[in-house]
Amino acid sequence: MKIIAKLGKMRSVVKDVKSQGKTVGFVPTMGSLHEGHLSLVRESLRKTDVTVVSIFVNPAQFGPKEDFKDYPRDLKQDSEILEREGVDYLFVPDTDKIYPEGYETYVEVHDLEDKLCGRSRPSHFRGVCTVVLKLFNIITPDISFFGQKDAQQAIILKRMVQDLNLDLRIEVLPIIREKDGLAISSRNSYLNQKERKAALVLSRSLKEAQLMIKKGEKGSAAILGRTKEIINEEPLVKIDYVEVVDMDKLTPVTRIEKEVLVALAVFIGKVRLIDNTILRMKE
Ligand code: PAJ
Repeated sequence: MKIIAKLGKMRSVVKDVKSQGKTVGFVPTMGSLHEGHLSLVRESLRKTDVTVVSIFVNPAQFGPKEDFKDYPRDLKQDSEILEREGVDYLFVPDTDKIYPEGYETYVEVHDLEDKLCGRSRPSHFRGVCTVVLKLFNIITPDISFFGQKDAQQAIILKRMVQDLNLDLRIEVLPIIREKDGLAISSRNSYLNQKERKAALVLSRSLKEAQLMIKKGEKGSAAILGRTKEIINEEPLVKIDYVEVVDMDKLTPVTRIEKEVLVALAVFIGKVRLIDNTILRMKE
């Protein structure tokens, strides 16, 4: 695996690969890699000829009170993991090369970016879209892989690709969970033992939502009520939001037909965790 920091070098490598008629897969990450990230990497290795992974902790997507400084970083370990997986290129640009002095251009996807997580993280998705578009422009992948774990992010980025006529495809892969159900996240490492245990209510409440739909429940209110009830039974967990929304516009749905997204975010102490599930009605 080659590690590349320079933007120009990354561009010329990809150009060369493409001139040989090979396809390029791209997995953008902020590092601190875990099985969730690796599921995307493995899919890229399977589906494309050359896989590029980026590690860039993007300051533009963190709010002033968020964990940009403390975000876990371990490039040595991450690069060993990716090397073992058989990744071709690891792209690790410097912050001042991505956002040089005088930087002024940002990408916004209205109104999707103001919904769900966007309400408590204003300008978060603007930061995500901006950096991902820049990375797409540098790497020009054929396919880029994202996780359903960040459902809103994936929906927004798909919208951006379509709206801006980008010549690539986004693939969204399922949430990878710990054995006990907790969705794997770099931020889980912030949880102490009690908080880690309390965090299980997230996946438990979403499982209950799945069970209700299987039993024929079609009303969002009932599903939301039960989901919130389960979460509220855990005193360490404070709900930021729980919503049942449609999969395109992320607007609240009252009666469930076909498929909807149940998305939630909570605070456990200072740690903000998200989780979601897709509910599908049987035909
Ligand atoms: P990061 O949080 O590092 O996640 C990188 C990718 O891994 C995202 O597509 C995310 O959805 C996916 N992912 C994380 N946990 C997962 C899990 N448990 N199961 C499946 N996929 C999972 O998301 C970002 O970085 C950034 O916003 C980024 C897109 C890199 C832009 O800065």
